[in-house]
Amino acid sequence: MKIDDFSEKLKKRMTITDYNILLHFFSFKNYIKNDILTNDGIKLIKKILKSKRPLSQITGRRFFFENWFIVNKKVLIPRFETEVIIENFIEENLNNKIIFDICCGTGCLGISAFLKNKNSNLYLSDISKSAIRCTKKNLKEFKINASVLRGNFFQPFIKKNLKADFVIINPPYILKGDVNVEKNVNKYEPKIALYAKQEGLEFFYKIKKDYKKILKPNGKIYCEFGFKQKEKLEQIFINENIEYYKDYSGNWRWFVLSNLT
Ligand SMILES: C[S@@+](CC[C@H](N)C(=O)[O-])C[C@H]1O[C@@H](n2cnc3c(N)ncnc32)[C@H](O)[C@@H]1O
Repeated sequence: MKIDDFSEKLKKRMTITDYNILLHFFSFKNYIKNDILTNDGIKLIKKILKSKRPLSQITGRRFFFENWFIVNKKVLIPRFETEVIIENFIEENLNNKIIFDICCGTGCLGISAFLKNKNSNLYLSDISKSAIRCTKKNLKEFKINASVLRGNFFQPFIKKNLKADFVIINPPYILKGDVNVEKNVNKYEPKIALYAKQEGLEFFYKIKKDYKKILKPNGKIYCEFGFKQKEKLEQIFINENIEYYKDYSGNWRWFVLSNLT
């Protein structure tokens, strides 16, 4: 059987982008050989057509930046709009530098950065056990030696008195009850990865309060935020050395905060 035999049904089930990602996944997994689907490939397609879950939760993989990452049902599926941060982050001189990926989820940010500079020292942290498990699987998959810490935001680093040259964070930042969140995202993705208190700004207040405790002098934090949050962030980070940037869709999406003291 060819994948074309299923294409009409699959296209009804998903966006054209997801369909193309699926084709990419099938060749990565060798589920298509000489244009013909393997038995595993046919089984997976049938499973996809039956389920309403996000595609990556069924395949167990998501392509992010340049690699296929392992995902599970309890971690955030890495998002396309987050890739812009990595593209800019890897322009920094990361040689022999200490990098923290905080709120790591799958570990897609820290791992993508590390793969571009294997002389860096990588630490990843998250509060969720499932995220820690998933990050460890990805580290093994990419044969990376890194330190993985579980705990509340900056606390594991403060406790150990660890400081970074570069920190990369994609924190939860959605306001609870936000009506713009897609139904399927709210239903199938972990709430702990999506929602934050204080109108979604909880983690930005924490960054403002404690960033100097985990960042070396001249160190930088690269951080994602919600596209309607820039004005609020300007109030929170007033008098700090911060620059705001847009994503590929032209939405304000990330900032770089420098520790100039
Ligand atoms: C938006 S997801 C980002 C995941 C991944 N970095 C990415 O970009 O795909 C936010 C992550 O923050 C974690 N998280 C939520 N609250 C946390 C806390 N208090 N301390 C540390 N991590 C937390 C969640 O478990 C989740 O993995």
